Amino acid sequence: MTTLTQDDKKRAVARKAIDFVPDNALIGVGTGSTVNFFIDELARIKGRIDGCVSSSDASTARLKAHGIPVFELTNIGELPVYIDGADEINHSLHMIKGGGGALTREKIVAASAQEFICIADEAKYVAKLGTFPVAVEVIPMARSLVARELVHLGGHPEWRQGFVTDNGNLILDVHNLEILKPVEMETAINQIPGVVCCGIFARQHAHVLLLGTDSGVKEIR
Ligand code: 5RP
Repeated sequence: MTTLTQDDKKRAVARKAIDFVPDNALIGVGTGSTVNFFIDELARIKGRIDGCVSSSDASTARLKAHGIPVFELTNIGELPVYIDGADEINHSLHMIKGGGGALTREKIVAASAQEFICIADEAKYVAKLGTFPVAVEVIPMARSLVARELVHLGGHPEWRQGFVTDNGNLILDVHNLEILKPVEMETAINQIPGVVCCGIFARQHAHVLLLGTDSGVKEIR
């Protein structure tokens, strides 16, 4: 069996995701290094889609650089498909996302799509979520309040210093959270005043996981 690099696996899932792109439609596009490979693949077939809705300024810039039209979500109805990476994904297709800080727009675009296709290399596939810190987007004035509440939930929040989200907010990366019930933990974090969004995607999990492995791309539902 050939040993592939992590980038080889990201490239392979990005290529496979093209099979899930319908003709003459607007496609929801996530953020991150795996999605960057996907955007490059999308550029090859850009003639058969109408354009994209993007989850970050970074993805918008890359799509536009390829000459792919980008539309504002608020002017669009439902999207057939949203394609994005993950920092961790479990067997129920619950995810931790937000390593790149784009979690809020990612959750909004994902919620507007009929199907969420997650593209990830096998290092991201875990039995239990929580080794990767959970990003929490916070209104700046609420940073200390939210941090204290996250400690009550058992986590160790760390301010991502020098980073401002596309929405003008801050990120707290929460280490050591015991995520036994992802849906309940997502809800508990979301209810803290000042939290815009948290990086647990369990209420809205992926529908399909394209997992890059040494033996090829596995499709998991
Ligand atoms: C960005 C994200 C990304 O999907 C996640 O961080 C995975 O990124 P990569 O493909 O670079 O490993 O949630 O906010």
